Amino acid sequence: MKKVKAGDDGFYTAVAADAVHENGMTTVKLAGKKVILTRWQGRVVAFSAICPHAAADLSQGELHRGKIRCPEHDYKFDVGNGRILFPPDEMYCLQRYAVKEEGGSVKVRL
Ligand code: FES
Repeated sequence: MKKVKAGDDGFYTAVAADAVHENGMTTVKLAGKKVILTRWQGRVVAFSAICPHAAADLSQGELHRGKIRCPEHDYKFDVGNGRILFPPDEMYCLQRYAVKEEGGSVKVRL
């Protein structure tokens, strides 16, 4: 895990853009928050590693085709919009962050 500082625009330079892959999880620590970066349909997305259900570490879960499964109770979330997919009767959402690619880097605003 890599520690970084925010720039003047409030975005933290997290990692090199080519370090973030479809179906992969790149975990960074920004201002004390553990953030997961991945790509979905070509776009970088960033979300908190803390599961919104009961705070398990989502970086220990499984991510496949834009869906992340929590290792604790198997809840599943859509990383594209943060919505819960399973179980369908719950209302939890991923904490997502603004993210951009600039100058060959991935930048995240918390
Ligand atoms: S802590 Fe993630 S599903 Fe319960």
